[in-house]
Amino acid sequence: MKRLIVVSNRVQPPSEDEPGNQGGLTVALSTVLRESDGIWFGWSGGETESFTGHINFQKSAGVTTATVDLEPQDIHEYYDGFANRTLWPLFHYRVSLAEFERGFVDGYERVNTRFADTLLPLIAKDDLVWVHDYHLIPLGQRLRERGVANRIGFFLHIPWPPMRLMVSLPNHQELVESLFAYDVVGFHTHDWLESFIDYVRAQMDATIGEDNTVTWNGRTLRAVVCPIGIDAQEFADTANGPVAEAMRQRMEESAGGRAMIVGVDRLDYSKGLQERFIGYERLLSQREDLHEKVFLLQIAPPSRESVQTYQEIRASLDSLSGRINGEFSSVEWVPLRYVNKGYPRDVLAGVYRAAKVGLVTPLRDGMNLVAKEFVAAQDPADPGVLVLSNFAGAAAQMGQAVLVNPYSPEEIADALGQALTMPLAERQERWRALMDTVLEQDVMWWLGQFMAALDPDEAPEPALS
Ligand code: UDP
Ligand code: G6P
Repeated sequence: MKRLIVVSNRVQPPSEDEPGNQGGLTVALSTVLRESDGIWFGWSGGETESFTGHINFQKSAGVTTATVDLEPQDIHEYYDGFANRTLWPLFHYRVSLAEFERGFVDGYERVNTRFADTLLPLIAKDDLVWVHDYHLIPLGQRLRERGVANRIGFFLHIPWPPMRLMVSLPNHQELVESLFAYDVVGFHTHDWLESFIDYVRAQMDATIGEDNTVTWNGRTLRAVVCPIGIDAQEFADTANGPVAEAMRQRMEESAGGRAMIVGVDRLDYSKGLQERFIGYERLLSQREDLHEKVFLLQIAPPSRESVQTYQEIRASLDSLSGRINGEFSSVEWVPLRYVNKGYPRDVLAGVYRAAKVGLVTPLRDGMNLVAKEFVAAQDPADPGVLVLSNFAGAAAQMGQAVLVNPYSPEEIADALGQALTMPLAERQERWRALMDTVLEQDVMWWLGQFMAALDPDEAPEPALS
């Protein structure tokens, strides 16, 4: 087995104390990193006055991590700046929220170069290198410039925008050209892959071969569709475990016989929270019979708080939630429980299980794992209903959910009405089909698919589209 080097902005090693609370990505990557004696490299999340390239090695639950601190200016221009004020909004189709500043581009390039310089001595001849997400698109090219000839893969965890949006990025050309340093480039859905292919065909005159191999300027990469999953069996077991069960009971008591609708999202404008609240408000306006009988629990831990657009969405949700509760609450009923706090996954599993409806309505999302977790946490005998945005990557695999246009408050209100009264047999039928997919296309399946494309010697016939 070849050694794997994973590179991502955030390094999320497995924790020895709380093995049940790892994200699926951590579980999957950790398995291969452990077995191949690999390394997970990235930003420590910490600051240093002046970048030294000092690597902090740690071992946690058998996984070696190697992290570096960044300068405040790096964090401002690379993480807050180009990654989260330029690429994140643009790649989520929100070009009007994107900020284009040359200083951000410089910081992004600088950090990618620093990562390459620091990582270089750690790469041995046969290692496989796997770079993750929009923070690190040029890293492969920086490594090639330093003589790295290894197989290098890249996976984008967010959408790839349509070509006509992509060209609004002043440095779009350099950014996309840099992807050709990779051997394999992975996307969650055919939609994102198609937008990428449209771009390279129209803007770069690249040659598209069989199996989505793309050749430009003498370099060939293979573009693959590979939807990430969760560790579904483990999550289902967690939902049956003691922490989740205790939480489920607490939720049931506090619900007092009312049906709970649940949403769980980072507080991000891509998640469609305003439209979701307005859709719920519409349901309450239309359906007086539901008053005192339902409530929406929205868990929304704050995210990227130094970025202004995130401060604005938070302020707007504060006011919207106040308006809804002011309008509809009674002395005994609060229709919207809006919580700006994060919860561990085993607790969330209990919350999902207590809910009648999972409301997942991003305006645009690379995948959305909450949708899959909601399904995995349900009681097969009495499953809740998933209401899912058409514009989440997950919708491509989860057609048995109640699919909605997340921009339409009417559709959200109708879908909630449908979900809250759905007969048991239909709920079971939809849930079974969703659960089969979530179990089959889980996170280990995703990892195996990508690794087979990255290392064709190990698996000569990868079954990827
Ligand atoms: N999550 C969590 N605690 C919270 C809220 C979310 O552990 O309070 C987890 C959630 O269980 C999921 C992940 O954060 O695994 C969010 O992933 P998703 O793909 O839905 O959205 P992202 O935040 O990556 O955009
Ligand atoms: C999305 C991105 C990840 C990112 C995560 C949390 O899932 O695809 O790369 O790590 O959001 O965002 P944060 O900025 O806190 O790392």
